[in-house]
Amino acid sequence: MKTILTGIRTNSVLTLGNYLGALLPMVRLANKHSKDSHVNIFVPDLHSIISEVDGDLKANIVRTIKYYLAAGLELNENVHFYRQSYVPAHSELCWILNCVATMGETSRMIQYKEKSKGQESCNVGIFDYPILMAADILLYSAEFVPVGEDQFQHIEMARNLAMRFNNRFGETFVVPARTSDQVKFMEVENAIRIRDLLSPEKKMSKSTAAENSKIMLDDEPAKAAKKIMSATTDSLGKVKFDMFNQPGISNLLQIEALVTDTPLQDVISTWAGETRYGDLKKKVAESVSEMLTVFQGRLAEISDEQVYELLEAGEKYANEVAKAKLFDAQKAFKLR
Ligand code: TYM
Repeated sequence: MKTILTGIRTNSVLTLGNYLGALLPMVRLANKHSKDSHVNIFVPDLHSIISEVDGDLKANIVRTIKYYLAAGLELNENVHFYRQSYVPAHSELCWILNCVATMGETSRMIQYKEKSKGQESCNVGIFDYPILMAADILLYSAEFVPVGEDQFQHIEMARNLAMRFNNRFGETFVVPARTSDQVKFMEVENAIRIRDLLSPEKKMSKSTAAENSKIMLDDEPAKAAKKIMSATTDSLGKVKFDMFNQPGISNLLQIEALVTDTPLQDVISTWAGETRYGDLKKKVAESVSEMLTVFQGRLAEISDEQVYELLEAGEKYANEVAKAKLFDAQKAFKLR
């Protein structure tokens, strides 16, 4: 059976960007494939501690798993939830891959460059991040790893490490699919990148300070609607999907399509040529606020106990699979 795998860090409440770009696509794919594939959804808690965590990490983890359930994930015996730090093989394989990866390729990672910029004492975890991520993927022989566009470079790195390892030591790891095939698998034309509402040339990010730049999943629906109404647009005065020249408007069209589960092309045709940006904003604000109302209602119904039960079963499974693959890698280095 194939494995589809993904993870979302839980440093704080998630944004609408995480939800639409990563969580919701994963839920759709999981529901479609979990009858005949393993679906591994894990919380990369060791990746979380590279930077400050808002609130209590343990509580954040439980909340994130509830997000998947509230988003409509259907459970069955092939769907596995686990915490990275509860499966020690991740850290151990990371060390082995550290001895295969080069300083040069790791220094070229955009996320590392961005996160370390201007920091005098950048922690080593920020640098090692993509190698731990490669371990997360390779331990489970995952071919498809649905993530947002900002993570594609890390998927490429995981591919490169797997190929290099296999070339040096013989077939050990399944090489994840190339990013163009990942996009096809996710059934989207391009990877989704929800933009910052105030500076739409950037991605929406939980770490951006300005409140109105991002919608958080625990925002009151009315507050989220207000944020949409104050989103930056442009002065061209015609609705068109053009991420380059009209990123603000295009972002709103993209959000509307995802939140209402409508093909983007249909949303684009509905609004093409409209001149009143206010009407579009009003519609998107309504859609987002409706979505949040339903989502938050469902979230409140899921208990912590249900989450811990899922984690217990998932971690048993994950440890079995990961240990076996780690052993292969240890044998390659004659550690075993
Ligand atoms: P994280 O927490 O930074 O991002 C989680 C997911 O959310 C997506 N994302 C977005 N998508 C669209 N628009 C946005 N504005 C936006 N912001 C974030 C990210 O692309 C990502 O899919 N390194 C991973 C976590 C991880 C992982 C793994 C994922 C660790 N190991 C192994 C897959 C496989 C990350 O970026 O988390």
